[in-house]
Amino acid sequence: MPIVHRIAVLTLLLGACGLAAAETVLVTGSNRGIGLEIARQYAARGWLTIATIRRAADDPEAAELRAIAAQHPNLRIEQMDVTDLNQIRRIADKYRDTPVDVVINNASSNQPTMAADMAKVGVGIAELDFDDTLWTYQVNAFGAMRVAQAFLPHLERSKHKKLVTITSMAGSFARAMGGGAFNYASSKAAVNKFMEVLAVSVKEKGVIVNLLEPSYLVATKPDMKDMPNTVPVAIEVANLLKDIDAMTLDRTGKIISIPTGEVLPF
Ligand SMILES: NC(=O)c1ccc[n+]([C@@H]2O[C@H](COP(=O)([O-])OP(=O)(O)OC[C@H]3O[C@@H](n4cnc5c(N)ncnc54)[C@H](OP(=O)(O)O)[C@@H]3O)[C@@H](O)[C@H]2O)c1
Repeated sequence: MPIVHRIAVLTLLLGACGLAAAETVLVTGSNRGIGLEIARQYAARGWLTIATIRRAADDPEAAELRAIAAQHPNLRIEQMDVTDLNQIRRIADKYRDTPVDVVINNASSNQPTMAADMAKVGVGIAELDFDDTLWTYQVNAFGAMRVAQAFLPHLERSKHKKLVTITSMAGSFARAMGGGAFNYASSKAAVNKFMEVLAVSVKEKGVIVNLLEPSYLVATKPDMKDMPNTVPVAIEVANLLKDIDAMTLDRTGKIISIPTGEVLPF
């Protein structure tokens, strides 16, 4: 059999086994916490995993991600600060020929420790720093919007077409948490509404848009290790991957609970 025919047969066989074109996922904020674990679990599944971080790839804070990349050549680390539209567009252009099946907006303006996060939650209206408000929106809300805009063409050309944004109960109207966290809570409410509107506008293209809401609380910080009633990151992210697998167009635009997979009210 001529060599070209042999290659064609091999391609068909690999395609039939699902091996020809690996699925691709892109995740933001993947050097620690939930994002790091998302990168780890998709890389272990064999997906092409574009693990984006706001830091340079050789930053000490990306050591754990580099260790995963060393074990999984299908994981690529890319520098992408979600507040920097040029950087986002550069990565989108670099992967312009790669359909991206799942895009996950995970990055959040949170601090590296729970204590530092709680100090910000406790800031009252009189002390509110609007530069910090703007920064929180830049990361949590506008960051997800920028990434959605830049990677919609990659999603549209993919097999699964799933855009995920990790939200928080703090942003809910129906399930208000009773005060605090002005900046964080309102930035999450903003991104919720944006994604709900986006879901309607891209439904006819087959793109599924969901907000995924974590358990309260996921133990992502070193000082949460001994806190009672927290969920280990690996368990939460295993559920998150199942929820993404289960995403369908008939539930597009909804908030989905990560631990239960159920639709939650806004
Ligand atoms: N943990 C929970 O219990 C919980 C509950 C509800 C919702 N969530 C949501 O789940 C998501 C992940 O939470 P987490 O606890 O894993 O957070 P985390 O541990 O604080 O990690 C946040 C990640 O976002 C990155 N990031 C910050 N600013 C960025 C920027 N401008 N561009 C790109 N990346 C940036 C951080 O990078 P650096 O290391 O460089 O700062 C870090 O990798 C967030 O959206 C959060 O709101 C978490």
